[in-house]
Amino acid sequence: MGNLPAGVTLKIEADAQALAHAAADLICAAVQQKPDLSILVATGNTPMPTYAELARRAAAGQADFSRVTAVQLDEYLGLTDDDPRSLWGWMQRSFVAPLGITRTIRLHVPEEFDRDVAALGGLDLALLGLGPNGHLGFNEPPSPPESPTRTVTLTPESLESNRVYWNGLAVPTGAMTAGMNLILSARQTVLLVSGAHKRGILRCTLEGDQTPNLPASLLRRTALTVIADEAAWL
Ligand code: F6R
Repeated sequence: MGNLPAGVTLKIEADAQALAHAAADLICAAVQQKPDLSILVATGNTPMPTYAELARRAAAGQADFSRVTAVQLDEYLGLTDDDPRSLWGWMQRSFVAPLGITRTIRLHVPEEFDRDVAALGGLDLALLGLGPNGHLGFNEPPSPPESPTRTVTLTPESLESNRVYWNGLAVPTGAMTAGMNLILSARQTVLLVSGAHKRGILRCTLEGDQTPNLPASLLRRTALTVIADEAAWL
């Protein structure tokens, strides 16, 4: 591979389960160092085994997330709270409740959200998945680094990639996302990448141009750790 910029670490794990363990180790270490960690939380399929591993450690008394603040990364527009497609609901079920987290910041009104995150002292950690088109949250290409927290229209690629989550239900076309400016300001960013279908976009993310046309490539200017499984890299 080409030279990675200083500050970027790439860890290759054997499979999705090993990736989950490595990611859980990193998150637990961060929480041990700062028990009141603020963490931006992706949904999507990639981080689910990591969240399950974190929940297992919490249940076993090996980790304590009670002072952590979970910050929502993105949300569809126009859904009721009990809609099965709500990303807030997904984050509650997969991360907040099983880890015993009591503090959250919901993405509802962009200005309030940014103010609440700033009042916390900013983001300690952004835990992200890699969109098949290089999106982060719903920062669709092109998203310049200064893109604020805002409402967006999803691209056809993202509508397609999100379809698999909802079992035949339509994917809402409008969404809200934490801005690139906020994501890039996190003190640490972690990008989880799993599966052969992400191989091409991961190469471009790490080795191509840093460009708004591939929002994830902009993470290379941050203190970034990429944890990928072999299928996504080798
Ligand atoms: C989800 C999110 C998305 C996903 C990305 C990858 O909150 O923000 O950007 O992280 O689409 O999705 P998966 O992990 O399902 O491949």
